[in-house]
Amino acid sequence: MLKGKNLLEPMDLTVQELEELFATADDIIENPEKYAHCASGKLMGTLFYEPSTRTRLSFTAAMLRLGGEVMGFSEPASSSVSKGESIADTVKTVACLADMIVMRHPKEGAPRIAAEHSRVPVVNAGDGGHQHPTQTLADLMTIRKYKGRLDHLTVGLCGDLMFGRTVHSLIRALSRYENITLKLISPRELVLPEYVRTSVIEKNGMEYEEVRRMDDVLPQLDVLYMTRVQRERFFNEDDYIRLKDTYILDEAKMNLAGKDMIVLHPLPRVNEIAQEVDKDPRAHYFDQVQMGMYMRMALIVKLLGLEV
Ligand code: NCD
Repeated sequence: MLKGKNLLEPMDLTVQELEELFATADDIIENPEKYAHCASGKLMGTLFYEPSTRTRLSFTAAMLRLGGEVMGFSEPASSSVSKGESIADTVKTVACLADMIVMRHPKEGAPRIAAEHSRVPVVNAGDGGHQHPTQTLADLMTIRKYKGRLDHLTVGLCGDLMFGRTVHSLIRALSRYENITLKLISPRELVLPEYVRTSVIEKNGMEYEEVRRMDDVLPQLDVLYMTRVQRERFFNEDDYIRLKDTYILDEAKMNLAGKDMIVLHPLPRVNEIAQEVDKDPRAHYFDQVQMGMYMRMALIVKLLGLEV
């Protein structure tokens, strides 16, 4: 039962609950009219302490398409946060007003603190360089749709594996499926944090390889997950400038990949995927945005226990 739960990291959902979300999202795609009013009278509070386009709009679109309403802030400067209010007090207040809370915050663990002070479900919409579980829902739904499975896959994760929270969450989610091989493609300075490698990958006996050159593994991949170098988490602008264009996926690189490989990216993209790749039938990052909305709709239905 998902009703009343929080979603702070991917492991908060069992594989069975994930299957329920996929099934609900499939049903929403097929019968949108059945769900068009099921959240009528329900209110979502969105507390975004960090910039966002997709995630905030996707949650908003999801709630509106279910017939519910949304309020909140996208800019902490416009809220009482700027007067020095604590997360706990902001959350206690919003929990008195809304039926669920969606929070993005630059500090790792902030949504967990929020959940401790909330009497309504809290969803983590990204906390610092830590986790982003609803992006993972979008990623899994897209892989399932275009590869037809979530097991027996070789997945290349490329770019900023150190600070990329979407990568950390996706690896966690994939660790529960059989025969997943990870190719961790990053510059030496942006390798996956050791705690993810030891406590998720090695602990679950996942196969993995750390590589520097994308070309070396491209032909082996079923999924290529590109990421942006996370400028806002760097201490030093010079390091960012030096590392930002390490990997650029273009047509020439796509020619090295298999014809069934799919390309994902949580977006926003900077330079890491050339525009010319967008028209390649293997590029699915905009489909991924759409899958994200359907999975968020399914999540809202389940967390609020809505009747359809
Ligand atoms: C990602 C994020 O915020 O972590 N964006 C998103 O939510 N789709 C990826 C990123 O910002 O690079």
